[in-house]
Amino acid sequence: MAIILMINLKGGVAKTTNAVAVAECFADEGRQVLLIDADHQCMASEMLLGEERLLRCEKRGRTLHDMLAAMLDDEFEEESVPYFVEEGGSNIGSGYANLHVLPCSLRIDDFEKSMRKSRNNYRSSDDWIRDINKKRRRLRNYLSTKYDYTIVDCPPALAIQLQVLVPVADAFVIPSIPDQLSIRGSMLLLDRLRRANFSKVRPLGMLWSLYRQQARAHREAVERAARGTPPFDQLPRPFETVIPNASKIADSTDPSKNFTTYYAKYTPAFARLYQNLCGEIRKRVNSARQ
Ligand SMILES: Nc1ncnc2c1ncn2[C@@H]1O[C@H](COP(=O)(O)OP(=O)(O)OP(=O)(O)O)[C@@H](O)[C@H]1O
Ligand SMILES: [Mg+2]
Repeated sequence: MAIILMINLKGGVAKTTNAVAVAECFADEGRQVLLIDADHQCMASEMLLGEERLLRCEKRGRTLHDMLAAMLDDEFEEESVPYFVEEGGSNIGSGYANLHVLPCSLRIDDFEKSMRKSRNNYRSSDDWIRDINKKRRRLRNYLSTKYDYTIVDCPPALAIQLQVLVPVADAFVIPSIPDQLSIRGSMLLLDRLRRANFSKVRPLGMLWSLYRQQARAHREAVERAARGTPPFDQLPRPFETVIPNASKIADSTDPSKNFTTYYAKYTPAFARLYQNLCGEIRKRVNSARQ
């Protein structure tokens, strides 16, 4: 169904934390979910698979980098995708069978070189673009048929892997702290997506994160954005769910811990908050489709 990027050009705004919590929440509801880790820091992969399993994926060449490299190959078909995907992610219970992970690798930084080499093998760059678009369509078909939600945890830059993945996605969520620099990072992102001609991917909403009720600047930004006061009218309409700065949410990111249930991992209060957020995401995805 929907392929959704968690993206902001600003670092440290809780893209990864929210991507993992949302993926687990949809999985907990029984949806088929894939989390694609597109950040070379590999944090989401580690959070969902643990260090040892991630290392095994790396050794076996089953990571996003390996899949993107395979997309430069003639043989890449829809059926090629599951080879790179690890089934049964999360440190809740014995993992969710319906939560799959396409982990990242540090080698993703070499992908630019592979892209350049591949482009040189074509007669013209138009031929190359046509071919890469064909592979994108195959990837997109596979993801939207197989999964209810594909959540992509993005790095804080329009890195080379995003040049391939952004056109595959349907929509994007912008996690942002309601502060000056993060809001500017969000504006910059919208500008960069426009300039890169990535206008088909739709903004789903701003997701206020790391919110501190006691900070006046945070309160004012959230209120003004809800009313659409300039300059917030240039940003996508924020989700009503606001994710606070809370040590229980920070604690949930420790991949060495195990939790019995979603509620135990996030505490009932924050588990309900993420359930509300997933409800909002579902509604916006569905209304954009009509
Ligand atoms: N709601 C929250 N409450 C408290 N701490 C949080 C919350 N969400 C995230 N954090 C902490 O904030 C830091 C940044 O979070 P995270 O790594 O998810 O951000 P990011 O946007 O993915 O960063 P990067 O740009 O480096 O990928 C981490 O230390 C994380 O544990
Ligand atoms: Mg991150």
